[in-house]
Amino acid sequence: MSEDKNSNENKSVGAKGYILPAIVVAFSFAIIYTVVVAIPNLPSLKSEPSKYAMEYVEKEADGTIKRDEQGLPVLNDAGKGRAIYVREGCFYCHSQFVRPQDRDFGSRVFAGDYANETPNVLGTSRTGPDLSNEGGKLPDEWHVGHLKNPREYNPGSIMPSFSYLPDEDLGYLVSYLQTLGRKRMDDPENRHIYEAYYPEADEAFWHASEHHKPNVDSAAAANAGAGIFRQNCAVCHGLNGLGNGPNALAMAKKPANFSRPYYKAYSDKTWYWRVAEGVPGTRMPRWKLKLEPEQMWYLVAFLKTLPQDKSPIIEPYQTIDSEAWQSQSALPERITDNYEKLAKNKKKGGKSSKGGHGGH
Ligand code: HEC
Ligand code: HEC
Repeated sequence: MSEDKNSNENKSVGAKGYILPAIVVAFSFAIIYTVVVAIPNLPSLKSEPSKYAMEYVEKEADGTIKRDEQGLPVLNDAGKGRAIYVREGCFYCHSQFVRPQDRDFGSRVFAGDYANETPNVLGTSRTGPDLSNEGGKLPDEWHVGHLKNPREYNPGSIMPSFSYLPDEDLGYLVSYLQTLGRKRMDDPENRHIYEAYYPEADEAFWHASEHHKPNVDSAAAANAGAGIFRQNCAVCHGLNGLGNGPNALAMAKKPANFSRPYYKAYSDKTWYWRVAEGVPGTRMPRWKLKLEPEQMWYLVAFLKTLPQDKSPIIEPYQTIDSEAWQSQSALPERITDNYEKLAKNKKKGGKSSKGGHGGH
């Protein structure tokens, strides 16, 4: 009996000894829980998706997220592009966060705009420009070309070339870039920021442009325009505006050749409009999103000085010879003609290369 009593006493002494550590452990757990689970989930700290938040996943008909066999969400094209954006480290150089003190990057960004996006790609550095409001700013074709070789579009750019990415991946990336800030831009509340984006803002567009219009018939304005042209346009349109810049080689839709006679008919306003609005479906950018009205007027002054040939040399296959098209027999003749020319050239080439070998 006495032995039993003793053991009971021992037990209670032992239990007393563990009270302090137990309190410490419980307290630590409480703190960890508060910091890791409770605080982040406080309703007041949770950012609800804003009306500008994007969804980068496919949805079922009933609105739920589509999942693959492994239960992972199925990404849409822009979502695949976002994954590539993360993988390629675009966010090392590009932020997606416009703060109140920032100018030139469009409207501000709030936490809810990126709700449900993990990992976030807000970025911490602006080696390149902020991309929060990039969507709709430049044509798809421009983006693909720029991603392949940024120097072709912005001489002196330090952005690396992503030409090693398959075309499919570049397409996904561009889909993603075109979503950035697109909804924000389309919101009527933000129209004052993007006024010029809307065709109905034409009046404001011309008003702003006239306000900054220099004398476009002066040599000084044309000279100023020549510099801007060399920096921004010559890569495509060529130094003399003949449409033969280094970029033109690889482009399906060739840049305009300003020596063509019909440009004589262009008024100052037509020139300005084309430069400002670009040409949809081609790589010609909407320069009003990059240049100031004054700079575009200088460009107009320069473009007007380019000689517009009265009779440009046009290769025969470029003319639409209606008679030839009507009489089918005329076609084979021309084809043979060209073929013979080609064959002759080949022979010549063969001979001269042989001669070269002989010389060695
Ligand atoms: C080493 C830094 C760096 C990295 C990495 C980088 N960029 Fe850039 N990016 C720049 C710089 C600098 C510019 C500005 C000059 C230019 O347009 O090339 C730029 C410009 C851009 C522009 C044009 C913005 C505009 O409106 O003119 C886009 C779009 C862009 N980058 C997208 C990307 C994407 C997508 C990736 C990843 C696949 C990427 N960048 C990776 C530095 C970088
Ligand atoms: C990335 C290549 C590229 C760059 C850079 C570029 N352009 Fe263009 N530009 C084009 C293409 C492509 C067209 C479309 C030609 C067509 O529609 O046949 C075009 C068309 C034009 C037109 C319209 C011609 C017409 O027929 O009405 C004007 C004006 C023009 N560019 C001026 C400029 C100016 C000024 C700059 C520089 C600030 C510039 N472009 C930079 C590719 C470019």
